[in-house]
Amino acid sequence: MTEGKIWIDGSLVEWNQAKIHVLTHGLHYGTAVFEGIRCYQTDNGLAVFRLTDHIQRLMNSAKMYFMDIRYSKKELHDAIIDTINANKSEDCYIRPIAYYGYGKMGVNPLPNKVSIAIAVWKWDEYIRESEPQKGARLIVSSWMRIDGRSMPMNAKAAANYANSALARMEALKMGFDEAVMLNTAGKIIEASAENIFMVRDNVSITPPISSGALNGITRDSVLSILRHNRNPYEIRDISRDELYIADEVFLTGTASGIRGVGNIDNRIIGDGETGQVTKQIKGKFEAIIRGNDNIFSKKWLTYVN
Ligand SMILES: Cc1ncc(COP(=O)(O)O)c(C=O)c1O
Repeated sequence: MTEGKIWIDGSLVEWNQAKIHVLTHGLHYGTAVFEGIRCYQTDNGLAVFRLTDHIQRLMNSAKMYFMDIRYSKKELHDAIIDTINANKSEDCYIRPIAYYGYGKMGVNPLPNKVSIAIAVWKWDEYIRESEPQKGARLIVSSWMRIDGRSMPMNAKAAANYANSALARMEALKMGFDEAVMLNTAGKIIEASAENIFMVRDNVSITPPISSGALNGITRDSVLSILRHNRNPYEIRDISRDELYIADEVFLTGTASGIRGVGNIDNRIIGDGETGQVTKQIKGKFEAIIRGNDNIFSKKWLTYVN
């Protein structure tokens, strides 16, 4: 990851020149908000998945941190497309970030300018996929997920990710693939960078956003697919023990896609492989992102050219 162009405050600059001052507010105090978006190769060329929804979530995150985004949604949309084109990208991950910059030091960021950068890169494997048919191995983190009493959890804010990073480092150091976190009520809430679903008796179940999970765009896409297919689903709290005895568990996120889970805290889930319901949803999701679905592809894909 050393080549290409990065968009900063209206200009495309060389990858190695995309630098910020060490006294950038966001670096010291976590005052940055960002998005993770994906772009996929389809038969009709490159397409960005749910671009409008990602830009809206970025704007919402910025609003919660009083950030003055000096670009309209249309301008950000165009900047993202320009950045993809400037990098001659194929399948890629897109990371727009807005941050309080260098100016006055101190906890209050308001005197400082808000900058925006957009980077794209190829990011194939977020959760280990050396044996993709095997479900991922999760550990329930010893770190509790921060919640809405401390931070606005609907903001995709850099500050929230110190909590995620602690959980993910713990999981990886213990030999697992990802961490799943409990909220302050002791309920399963989400993984370090994915939403979570379990399947019991053919019903797909995911915790409510009001319990503190990020309003994931992949989660929302899965719920739309389930509704459209008239497959049963519930949005409700999930306890840790229920997860151990689920028929299937899967994670959803832009970086990881839809990822089956085969093991949680050394309990095997189902037969330890990606389950049938998960496979069906994943198949439909992959058809959509590759432009092969009549209804959802039309609605959710923005073609780059
Ligand atoms: C904490 C957390 N939960 C859930 C998600 C999934 O959200 P999305 O599907 O919009 O990528 C992410 C992804 O960025 C995340 O960081």
